[in-house]
Order: sequence, then C-alpha cells, then structure tokens
Amino acid sequence: ASVAPRTATPAAATTTAATLAPATLSIVLPTFNERDNVPVLVERLDKVLVGVAWEVIVVDDNSPDGTADAARALAARDPRVRVIRRVGRRGLSGACIEGMLASSADFVAVMDADLQHDETLLPKMLATLSADEADLVVASRHVEGGAVGNGLSSVRASGSGLANTLARRLLQVDLSDPMSGFFMIRRREVERLAPRLSAQGFKILLDIAASARGELRIAELPYVFRERLHGQSKLDTLVALDFLGLLLSKLVGDFVSVRFLMFMMVGASGVVVHMLALFGGLELLGLEFQSAQTAATFVAMTTNFYLNNRLTYRDRRLKGWRALRGLLSFYLVCSFGVIANVGVATLVYEENAGRLMTGIAGAAGAVMGAVWNYAASSVLT
Ligand code: GDD
Ligand code: MN
Repeated sequence: ASVAPRTATPAAATTTAATLAPATLSIVLPTFNERDNVPVLVERLDKVLVGVAWEVIVVDDNSPDGTADAARALAARDPRVRVIRRVGRRGLSGACIEGMLASSADFVAVMDADLQHDETLLPKMLATLSADEADLVVASRHVEGGAVGNGLSSVRASGSGLANTLARRLLQVDLSDPMSGFFMIRRREVERLAPRLSAQGFKILLDIAASARGELRIAELPYVFRERLHGQSKLDTLVALDFLGLLLSKLVGDFVSVRFLMFMMVGASGVVVHMLALFGGLELLGLEFQSAQTAATFVAMTTNFYLNNRLTYRDRRLKGWRALRGLLSFYLVCSFGVIANVGVATLVYEENAGRLMTGIAGAAGAVMGAVWNYAASSVLT
C-alpha cells in the first residue's frame, strides 16, 4: 500500500501490481528508428529477468519512424516501461546519460535497442554488481568467449581495432572493448561522474572509464555481438571524428570541451579552404585581391557552417529550411567579421605586395573573421 501507483490501464495495474515495487535495475535503451526492435527486446527482457525488479527507460530522439509511440504503447500496458522523448537533440552518449540520470534504481544498464546485444548476459552482470565484485561490468567482445560474430563489416572491425588501441594507450583505459555500448554500472557512480561526461559522440563507456581515472573496479564478461535484423546502424564516418575529439579532450584532462576542440578542428580546416579558395581566385580566375578574399571568405564560411552543423553541433543539427535559415543568419552575423576580415587583409596586402605577404594578409583576415564568427554565431546562430 505504500507503493505510489503509476499511470496504467486498470487491467495492467492489477496484473503487474507486484512489479510496481521500486526498480533495482534500470535498463536504458537509446533509440533512433528502432520501432520494430523495441517490443521484441522488452519481451526478451521480461523472460530473462524473472525475479528482478527491472524497468526499461527508452530514450528516443524523436525518431521519424515513431519509435516513441511504439514504446508508449508498451508503457500503456506495462508500467515497467518508461519513455523519454527528446526533441531537437541527437546523440547516443547524451541519450544514455539522460536515461541513466532518470533512474532511481541502484543499478543501471545501457544496451542497444537493436537486438545486437545479448540480453541473456544481464542477470550475470547484475549478480557481479550485487555481489560487490565490481562497480562497472562491461560486456566485451574481446575477452575469452566473446566475439564480434557477423555484427561488423571488415572495415568497421579494423577501424574498431585501431580505436581500441588508441584508447587504451593514450587514455590508459584498461578495457578489452572500450567501444562497447553494453554495460552495467552502480547508479551512484554515474551520478558522481556525470559532470565530467561529454554528451557528444558514441563512446559513452570509454568516456565513463576515462573520466573515472582508475577509480572504478571494472569486470568484463564475454558476449557475442549479433547481426542487426531490422533498420540500420547510425554510426557514420563523422563518429570517428567525434572519437578523436573525445581522445584529445580527455588527454588534456578535460581542460577544454569536446565541442571547443571540434570547433577548432573545423576552424583549422576553414583556414585551409580559405587559402585554397583565395589562391584559386587570384591565380585561376584572375580576380582582384579584394574580390578573391571576399569570395574565399564566403567559401570558408559555408564549409565551416556545414561542418559545424554536421559535427560540432550535431546534437542540435539544423536541417532543411532551418539549415538554410541558419546559414543565412550565419552570413548575416558574420558580415561584420567579413568587413573586419577583408579590411585587415587588404590593408596588410596594400602595404606589402608579394606572394608571402599575400598569404599572411589572407591568414590575418581569416583569423580576425574566425574570432568574430565564433563569438557571434555561438550566441545568435
Ligand atoms: N537516442 C538516440 N540518439 N539513440 C541513438 C542515436 C541517437 O542519436 N544513434 C544511435 N542510437 C541508438 C540506436 O537506435 C541503437 O539502439 C543504439 O543506439 C546503437 O546504435 P547503432 O546505430 O545500432 O550502432 P552500431 O550497432 O553501429 O554500434 C554499436 O556498436 C558499437 C561497437 O562497434 C554501438 O553499441 C556503439 O556504441 C558501439 O561503439
Ligand atoms: Mn547496432
């Protein structure tokens, strides 16, 4: 009688009354277009977790396929299913963090919702934590008995191998499978580490292990990564850049954020684009310096906007018309930067002609513009 009732249909409330006890284990399922997979997984969890007070927290980033609705249909029948629908945000790590922090259970697990992770491992993971043998249990494909199976293409497999080596060498994370997206942890550790975690990228486990700096007792259990049945992987090439950002950020001891590092990487690429466009305009098109510099500035602004939208701010990416509006507003707020840029560059250029000075003039202008662009666009665009 002390259990607060949760919203459920009357029929469900009577049949599942026993499970309304507070959950011991929250299973966080990040989802993006997994409508067909979620009901299957929840059914499997129900079978494999008999005797455990569990709950599922689906964290959906407003999937166009209606995953959130499918999950809510489950929740209407089974109060152990909870749904968080995030609008205007994207990102696997961020979704996992949000799901874990929405739990009140002693233990939280994170697993893919696409049935690639072996749910039959969960009871053993829970037993390891309950017996206080570890603070974090990782399901690993790279310990004796584990395997990648047919779950990864050969390109993905070798990329994953390289990333593992880098993570272990550079971050001194003692994990055989630091990229695993399948783990269970004591919630109080998540609460403690949360302020150090980056919401960007795919590498939530690596982030947790690196941020803990050896403070966590870690156990690894083998599992076989399964093939995906419905839908497709969301891991793309930009995820590799995310990973580099996380490596750098952790290497410098969280002194700078992943986002700032991304912005710098994009900025650096913008300078290269700018210089190429400038010399292209001068040498190939025979433009006057001032026109070539103006054109180069717009070219670099456009690529910077594109890359920042795809990468630096991918968790709140602008799409379609919003992207176009974003680009125009970016041009607009940067127009003062453009004037400063072209002004400075032309001034330097007119004082000293010559190839080297042309380069320096262009670069000086680009740097001026970049500083302004960051300040103005981060506030306005
Ligand atoms: N909420 C949310 N937001 N969920 C997402 C997002 C997102 O932006 N992107 C992906 N997901 C969900 C998917 O719906 C799926 O449930 C899970 O996260 C994993 O995504 P996949 O797209 O299936 O990733 P994968 O199979 O290529 O990669 C898996 O294996 C990698 C190791 O090779 C993941 O577990 C990775 O974390 C892991 O590094
Ligand atoms: Mn997958």
